[in-house]
Amino acid sequence: MSKKTIRIGLIGYGFMGRTHSNAYSQLSHFFDTEHVPVRQAVCGRNREQVAAFAEKWGYASYETDWRELVKRDDIDAIDICTPNDSHAEIALECIKHGKMILCEKPLALNGAQGEEMVKAVEESGLPNLVWYNYRFLPAVTLAKNIVAAGELGRVFHYRANFLQDWTISSDLPQGGAALWRLDAAAAGSGVTGDLLAHCIDTARWINGEIVSVSAMTETFIKERIHTATGEKMPVTIDDACTFMARFANGSLAVFESTRYARGHKALYTFEINGEEKSLSWDLHDLNYLSYFDHGVPGDRRGWTKIHATDGDHPYSGNWWVPGLSLGYEHSFVHGLAEFFKSLDDPSSEKRFPDFRHALGTQYVCDAVLESAKTGQWVDVKSC
Ligand SMILES: NC(=O)c1ccc[n+]([C@@H]2O[C@H](COP(=O)([O-])OP(=O)(O)OC[C@H]3O[C@@H](n4cnc5c(N)ncnc54)[C@H](O)[C@@H]3O)[C@@H](O)[C@H]2O)c1
Repeated sequence: MSKKTIRIGLIGYGFMGRTHSNAYSQLSHFFDTEHVPVRQAVCGRNREQVAAFAEKWGYASYETDWRELVKRDDIDAIDICTPNDSHAEIALECIKHGKMILCEKPLALNGAQGEEMVKAVEESGLPNLVWYNYRFLPAVTLAKNIVAAGELGRVFHYRANFLQDWTISSDLPQGGAALWRLDAAAAGSGVTGDLLAHCIDTARWINGEIVSVSAMTETFIKERIHTATGEKMPVTIDDACTFMARFANGSLAVFESTRYARGHKALYTFEINGEEKSLSWDLHDLNYLSYFDHGVPGDRRGWTKIHATDGDHPYSGNWWVPGLSLGYEHSFVHGLAEFFKSLDDPSSEKRFPDFRHALGTQYVCDAVLESAKTGQWVDVKSC
């Protein structure tokens, strides 16, 4: 069967640029899709570094200005791996040039920007994806499948955490290439858009829409040197955020994220409690889904750990043999596989987040930040 190639133009070659490049190089070794990605060009502003990246990761060419890349006739899809403040501008330009888009999360700086992106991409009919990757880990997809099959019965509770500790030092500056996440102008928000957005995407995918929230945020270090000016400037991101939420299905939730939880590097956990069953998952042990089934006879009842690496677990059968673990990087390959399957058969059910879905997550983030500011419960705009 002759394959249909999709020529990728990647913008940004930092952390996500590397995870996506790995996914492009792995996809067709493990997933049999009719459309296949070709690493056509990568774009970065430093000529020497982008040339080295192109050589290392097998891109056929490079650009130093993303506008030149987006214009090129030999590019079919643009992958946006730049800081959050550039997503909207690049995506809107891609749409003008008829390129499909794979965009990193969060979709935009805020809901208003996201709405413009959704309107433009939907009017264009161009395929689009937002890289909320955690949902593609086998144990997380298994949780989704168990809940979607109605096995939990009525759902009462959902809780999620995303904890880190890398910004505790007050000597850490804000802004610039490495620390744009601490600068609200580049990031939009702090842990809410960076970390909680992942928790919200997974929660909405598994448990449905979030309808209202009540939040508190804190900025523990009020001023930091800005790398652009060398001056101490106010810090305007949220260093920590905790919020309560109500889902449309009547269940209640608690979400917490911080970069001040000493000892935690990337502790993402979630748990969902239903009338019949409960499920929980922990990124540090990502191949396992913890499972409690109240239907088991009382004397055998207890939490069990499903090692989601068997041939009939989601995605696992595409890799090695049962029992061998997968890692973080596989989530990006799986997300890409879903996107390419949808190019093969556009009428099939989409199993990946697109711009519209990501806008819904953006609306939850906006409501969380507004609630933290006003101290009031805030209804989430429906998408
Ligand atoms: N899905 C996930 O798990 C996940 C994880 C980390 C980051 N992200 C998202 O990915 C995006 C990038 O984050 P990152 O951690 O890779 O950041 P990073 O700082 O490691 O890399 C950003 C890259 O963008 C480049 N860049 C910035 N402005 C540019 C411009 N105008 N033209 C060309 N290149 C430009 C930088 O040089 C750098 O190569 C962000 O939106 C972030 O929220 C997602």
